[in-house]
Amino acid sequence: MKSKILKTTAIAMALSVGVAQAAEYKASNAEGPIKIVNLKAMEAQVQANMEKGAFGYIRGGAEDENNLRSNTTAFDKKYIMPRSLQGIEFSDLDLKTEFLGIKLDTPIIQAPMAAQGLAHQQGEVATARGMAKAGSVFSLSTYGNKTIKEVADAQPGYPFFFQLYMSKNDAFNEYILSQAKQYGAKGIIMTIDSSVGGYREDDVKNNFQFPLGFANLEAFAKISDDKSKTGKGAGISEIYAQAKQAFTPADIQYVKKMSGLPVIVKGIESPEDADTAIKAGADAIWVSNHGGRQLDSAPATIDVLPAIAKVVNKRVPIVFDSGVRRGSHVFKALASGADVVAVGRPILYGLNLGGAEGVNSVIQHLNKELKINMMLGGAKTVKDIQATQLYTDASFNQ
Ligand code: FNR
Repeated sequence: MKSKILKTTAIAMALSVGVAQAAEYKASNAEGPIKIVNLKAMEAQVQANMEKGAFGYIRGGAEDENNLRSNTTAFDKKYIMPRSLQGIEFSDLDLKTEFLGIKLDTPIIQAPMAAQGLAHQQGEVATARGMAKAGSVFSLSTYGNKTIKEVADAQPGYPFFFQLYMSKNDAFNEYILSQAKQYGAKGIIMTIDSSVGGYREDDVKNNFQFPLGFANLEAFAKISDDKSKTGKGAGISEIYAQAKQAFTPADIQYVKKMSGLPVIVKGIESPEDADTAIKAGADAIWVSNHGGRQLDSAPATIDVLPAIAKVVNKRVPIVFDSGVRRGSHVFKALASGADVVAVGRPILYGLNLGGAEGVNSVIQHLNKELKINMMLGGAKTVKDIQATQLYTDASFNQ
């Protein structure tokens, strides 16, 4: 009897701690440039600085995390040949490029990520400011903790994209796309690889539930009779369950027509899907496996990029992400067919450790590493990198 009471009390306490954590989630408010030795090392610093469930949600991958690991290790199988007689001065290296008519100071952009209030009190507003400072573009997730308006106001005049998780409710899709257009988004990133959440064991172990609401869903709930969950207190599977599942090319046409904006289809790993998306009107293709968070048996993105680039055949630009942690990775992705390269988790780590300045520090660190690779690999511009041939072990065994 006594042990039963103790057990019940323990469960009640555990539950109340869980509720208290959800109610009182305290994110970092750090602000300032951060010293970075390499992006991988940031993970341990953030782990020490963040609530366990939130860190697990951000860091984690699906199932055995094979894809999470291979996304990064697959870069090691590609070599950049040193080239030293090109007459390049370090000060002449030029990272400037363009994507969908947007001028960028670097070929590195930020991948859309949900719930950035977990990493920092200012959430997506700080990330948007950090990316503007870096001369690059910010992308707001449908499941962000800030609204489209808040993000647009955070950095007036700077470009941003809106990432769409289509809802099963077309009224929401219409509402959110009209908001994106109204507040000046430069394009819609339409994510198609998350029709169901990947099986992420950290979230299962931690019984992770979002402690903060998703601002766009909350705003829509206020003006509609939609009874969907709006983030706070929900697990990721419950949120994904509300999202559209059966995607067809007609959905791409719908988003294009409804928004009147360029549509970037994100979550492509096969040449067939790339071709289908372009034929349906995609203005850009985003090669991604969601950073190893979805299909654990998927190939590393760098391994599938050349075949996709071949099929795309420059009909539309290509964005690349998943596993990018080094300037050499950016170089290799550009040399394999990408036009711009996106980074996910390390941006949230920078946000956690230094707010907007921390986000800028991450991009500047990657720029620094990229420039060293350009100098030693004989490429002065982004176009030069794209024209560079990479090598594999097979190249040397003929
Ligand atoms: C994501 N990603 C993602 N993608 C998307 O289209 N909409 C989203 O809301 C999210 N949310 C999200 C949250 C978190 C915490 C992570 C880590 C990732 C996927 C993201 O855009 C990108 O594809 C990967 O993060 C790229 O892999 P790396 O750079 O994190 O290895």
